[in-house]
Amino acid sequence: MSSLEEPLGLGDLPKLSINRLGSLSSPRAYRRAEADDINNRKYNNSCNGSTQMVFHGNSHAWHPQCRQADSSCDAVELRDLPRKVMWDLPSFVKIVEVGPRDGLQNEKGNVPTSVKIQLIHKLVAAGLSVVEATSFVSPKWVPQLADAKEVLKGIQQVPGVRYPVLTPNLRGFEAAVAAGAKEIAVFASASESFSKSNINCTIEESLVRYRDVTAAAKKHGLLIRGYVSCVIGCPVEGAIDPSKVAYVAKELYNMGCSEISLGDTIGVGTPGSVAAMLEAVMSFVPVDKIAVHFHDTYGQALANILVSLQMGISIVDSSVSGLGGCPYAKGATGNVATEDVVYMLHGLGIETNVDLNKLMEAGDYISRHLGRPVGSKTAAALRKHLSP
Ligand code: HMG
Ligand code: MG
Repeated sequence: MSSLEEPLGLGDLPKLSINRLGSLSSPRAYRRAEADDINNRKYNNSCNGSTQMVFHGNSHAWHPQCRQADSSCDAVELRDLPRKVMWDLPSFVKIVEVGPRDGLQNEKGNVPTSVKIQLIHKLVAAGLSVVEATSFVSPKWVPQLADAKEVLKGIQQVPGVRYPVLTPNLRGFEAAVAAGAKEIAVFASASESFSKSNINCTIEESLVRYRDVTAAAKKHGLLIRGYVSCVIGCPVEGAIDPSKVAYVAKELYNMGCSEISLGDTIGVGTPGSVAAMLEAVMSFVPVDKIAVHFHDTYGQALANILVSLQMGISIVDSSVSGLGGCPYAKGATGNVATEDVVYMLHGLGIETNVDLNKLMEAGDYISRHLGRPVGSKTAAALRKHLSP
């Protein structure tokens, strides 16, 4: 019996975690478990007047602000509101932009190599410090990224910016290194069915394969990202047990992945199921090594990101203009739009180093090229608001 058929039993998890896992497994129970915390942290609004949301054009964010002349209204206290009601959110979030890879792998039409390169340049110019560039996968499986070598070689790499590429096996790894990759990503799944449909092998076989890839990457001194897909649900198997996610995440971490990205591939998670999954993974992988990767199929991505931040996560994957999807995950739509994530984070007072205006230009650029409206609600709203 493989270790996956006998996944981490609850007995393998720390005692506290077992109890919490049980209580977190339903959103209603999760809310009950956290209710005391929330009550203890309730913000006591000392302002007697009404609070209005005011738009600040320069910062691209709506902030609560007291609009009355009553001097007893403490505007500074109101500015502290997000932190008081939102627990200990991180002060900085690193965004991993996956649009050029996760986004463009799912496009039906052919996107010219020069457009892909230009998109990556625009994303870096917007301040993104990690831009997943492409995949060295089989062109028979993902023809959209058959120009991986040309894309990677064509990028004018900016010092300090990371350009990870997906490598499913040693063949892909060698091609990536030959094209100048300095960081690779391996991608496993918590669902057996998805593993077979996406990379044509079982989860255990993929882990064996990735041990070879990560050993080779370490020899070359490359950084390694590890993905776990279907962390909440699978199109074939339905709900995925958090302990299976924790098992695969732990294996990837132990083989040398410096960052573990947890992918809700089909976007079915809610803050309740995401919190339970994260807690299981956090028993085995340090929180500062965990990234979250939400597809927005059910419109839950921003809420899921918020609960992840509340649990200590500070690395978020997203895709410019909400591009994305996996050709082997039926029903999966795009990733959460980077513009929407940046807008939310800045609204919470969290730094990202991303210039939202320049990011929207990158979103406009690729949307124009794909011949469809921009897929970010924030970008669409701001364009409308700012247009004369
Ligand atoms: P296979 O068919 O089992 O492999 O595919 P194979 O070894 O039998 O090779 C088949 C053919 O592909 C052969 O060519 C190989 O040489 C070639 P032929 O001899 O028939 O002419 N080949 C390659 N060519 C170029 N580069 C390579 C490579 N490997 C083999 N690296 C394989 C197995 C893993 C290759 C295939 O299943 C594959 O490429 N899958 C990739 C699927 C994919 O990219 N999915 C999307 C990314 S995952 C994702 O989006 C989820 C994520 O975003 C997180 C989330 O949202 O959850 C990361
Ligand atoms: Mg994805």
